[in-house]
Amino acid sequence: MENFQADGEQRQYLLLEVNENGHSPDSKIQVRDLSKVSDKDVSILSKVNVDIPKGVIMGIIGPSGSGKSTFLRALNRLWEPPSGSVFLDGIDICNLDVLSLRRKVGMLFQLPALFEGTVADNVRYGPQLKGKKLTDNEVYKLLALADLDSSFFSKPGGELSVGQAQRVALARTLANEPEVLLLDEPTSALDPIATQNIEDVLVKLKKDRGITIIIVSHSIKQIQRIADVFCLLANGEIVEILKPSQLSEAKHPMAQRFLQLSS
Ligand SMILES: Nc1ncnc2c1ncn2[C@@H]1O[C@H](COP(=O)(O)OP(=O)(O)O)[C@@H](O)[C@H]1O
Ligand SMILES: [Mg+2]
Repeated sequence: MENFQADGEQRQYLLLEVNENGHSPDSKIQVRDLSKVSDKDVSILSKVNVDIPKGVIMGIIGPSGSGKSTFLRALNRLWEPPSGSVFLDGIDICNLDVLSLRRKVGMLFQLPALFEGTVADNVRYGPQLKGKKLTDNEVYKLLALADLDSSFFSKPGGELSVGQAQRVALARTLANEPEVLLLDEPTSALDPIATQNIEDVLVKLKKDRGITIIIVSHSIKQIQRIADVFCLLANGEIVEILKPSQLSEAKHPMAQRFLQLSS
């Protein structure tokens, strides 16, 4: 939490932005009344409203089945949200070209799925789709950004540990120069050291590149380590938006119960 002290003033400001309901110039993503019902008419997301400021790490926690993944997938249209419910830099994402949206809003999942070939092939994949071939040097820089040394460059993707593969997946996403990263429990298959590597990289990406990061996590401790602010989802609704330091102030009964059981 030292970081929190160091830029406490700035975070206070950012949190005000989170709580604001109107459109705000400092929001990277705005979600307005985002709802989803299942085919059987069961509510999956219910009028979710949140502003995610530029350059913060926002955590999403909540019981399983509460809609965390569905929420995340709406933000890059892996699930198509209704128009008028998700805005990136003030623009309705439904009006954006879906492929360029997904370059701007990259995503990582619990288990990394690398393509055939070497680590470098994987990292070059995204830019290649746009007709750009990354130089070796550019690949090395992206690897370094994901905390992978140069020895990984020509390793086959299939020979890596899950933690290493997750960092390659991160480097591959970073090759698209994303402005936002969506992470769906990215460390839940990793050991504590690999988890710490990823967390360090995320904090650095936020600090050095101003990337906005939204991370679903089942670990409240992880949220406390890296998030500036977090949302608690229960039954498809955001029931709390808090700073990690305010964890104990959660008022919603479901939030209290979840927090007690998870701590
Ligand atoms: N495509 C779908 N069709 C019907 N129900 C779904 C679909 N996707 C998710 N759900 C349901 O929506 C709820 C939220 O799922 P999910 O977003 O995966 O939750 P979480 O990530 O918090 O565990 C769950 O009850 C799940 O069964
Ligand atoms: Mg999920």
